[in-house]
Amino acid sequence: MNKRVGIMTGGGDAPGLNGVIESCCRSLLQQGWSVTGIQDGFEGVFEGRTIEITDKTIKGIHSEAGTLLGTSNKSPTAGREGEFVEKFKKLGLEGLIAIGGDGTFGGIQKMSNALKLIGVPKTIDNDLQGTDATFGYDTACTVIAEAVDALRYTADAHKRVIVVEAMGRTAGWIALGGGLASYADVILLPERPFRRDELAKYIRSKKPYQRGMVCLVAEGAAAEGEDPEVAFRVEGAPQAERYGGIAYAMAKWIEATCGWESRHVVPGHLQRSRAPTTTDRFLTLAMGIEAARMVMDGSWNQAVVYREGRIKRAPISDLMKPARLVDPDHRWVKMAQALGIFI
Ligand code: F6P
Repeated sequence: MNKRVGIMTGGGDAPGLNGVIESCCRSLLQQGWSVTGIQDGFEGVFEGRTIEITDKTIKGIHSEAGTLLGTSNKSPTAGREGEFVEKFKKLGLEGLIAIGGDGTFGGIQKMSNALKLIGVPKTIDNDLQGTDATFGYDTACTVIAEAVDALRYTADAHKRVIVVEAMGRTAGWIALGGGLASYADVILLPERPFRRDELAKYIRSKKPYQRGMVCLVAEGAAAEGEDPEVAFRVEGAPQAERYGGIAYAMAKWIEATCGWESRHVVPGHLQRSRAPTTTDRFLTLAMGIEAARMVMDGSWNQAVVYREGRIKRAPISDLMKPARLVDPDHRWVKMAQALGIFI
């Protein structure tokens, strides 16, 4: 057996990628394995761009956002699978640890007969099937909760409504988690299309009693019978649409409909570019150690997942099903309702 393995990160970055890299590589290096870091996702294989991972390269990176290896959310493997396998073989690796989302796994799935793979799921959106949680999600919720908590002061000072836009694509997990943690006045989710008349009634009913209000809107949310706001498209990306614009539109609408001065705030990529929380650090160190164990056991073509409070192994295909959306009657939705939040 060749005791050298490759590691790469693919798709949008998520807080905790460096934690998986550090924990996984530290475990492997301690057991006499060598690790090749592949740069910028699949591009590193096509262009032969790699780095040698040593103790020195990785020590302490677990607390940093971003990824030591670089990443890309383009999918250059489509139609070039043969070339990818050939170039990967030239790297002289026993197999590949791929830390990514459904786009990354979709990109390598077709080559799973020719490559030995281990998948580690990541996304701040928390919407991958097959795992109960993804790292980066807790950090993204923290950013949103801190934004809502902070904005309440200026909203109250100026007697304004502030509408905050959370990431998450078609899933409302970040808006729901971040909104609950900060007791946002309103939480709008893609999974629960809202009625404009009911929302206007709710906001008007609060105006006599509270100085300001903070509404949290998932970027993929929309009113009943309307489509989400697509800001632009990224050609070549596995999911080309980029959602955005709902907070601006809702602030204008609230001001015009409810007569309450409104502003909007889009935390955007701050939700990704932030040191991981302790919860995310625990998840990434456990996932990285398990990925290293799988390499050493020779348990290839499986993914590390988190189910029922434990780290487990599962087929990579489990992660590639359609997005795991919020159940409209999820217990967190019921908790928001119990607090009197409009959801
Ligand atoms: O999937 C993660 C995510 O941050 C989404 O929440 C967001 O819609 C998208 O990526 C943004 O992508 P980009 O980094 O290409 O702007």
